[in-house]
Amino acid sequence: MKFFIDTANLDEIREMNDLGIVDGVTTNPSIIAREGKDLKQTLIQICEMVNGPVSGEVLALDTEGMVKEGVEISKWHPNMVVKIPLTQAGIGAVAQLSKMGIKTNVTTVYSASQALLAAKVGATYVSPFVGRSDDVLMDGMRMLRDICEVYRVQGIKTQVLAASMRTPTYVVEAARAGADVATIPYATMKKMFWHPMTDVSIDDFMKDWKNAMGDAKIL
Ligand code: E4P
Repeated sequence: MKFFIDTANLDEIREMNDLGIVDGVTTNPSIIAREGKDLKQTLIQICEMVNGPVSGEVLALDTEGMVKEGVEISKWHPNMVVKIPLTQAGIGAVAQLSKMGIKTNVTTVYSASQALLAAKVGATYVSPFVGRSDDVLMDGMRMLRDICEVYRVQGIKTQVLAASMRTPTYVVEAARAGADVATIPYATMKKMFWHPMTDVSIDDFMKDWKNAMGDAKIL
């Protein structure tokens, strides 16, 4: 499974990208607003840092506006993916952008029927929001599993991008469901490294070494 990072903070992206664990980046208007910087400049800087798809979301809510903004965003860098919300107007925009060969990420998806519509109009990615589904007492992981299964049965090429990943367990369950990508917030990505027994084990090794070998070093 690919890992995208769900942030527009350049320090967070750089830290994880330098480790070699970032395959792409997703943003949305809230994420960009959090950084308080220019949308275009921020997205271009991200594209220059990460060698992979970078999603930038349109602000218009009507089909014509979304298509115009999508065409503009797609010109900013070859790695740009145009993020479009799943509404009737959004599906109309994705249909047009697909015909122009522009890559799209259909976002704010909460059901398998919505995911089928995104696939029908040739979306490159579909983004089911798992955490936000759980927030309103829906079973987000079940929704993700449904989408993965329906896509598998139908041989659909649109990639499933598991979004709104709140904890490392979400990422593991998205991988188990067969999602192509998980887009992971920085805080969740940091937690993926950690296990209490890893710290305890390293501490044991270092104590044993010091007790027997003192200050002996490799270099
Ligand atoms: C996806 O692309 C969205 O940016 C994101 O995953 C939304 O998740 P949130 O619930 O963490 O805001």
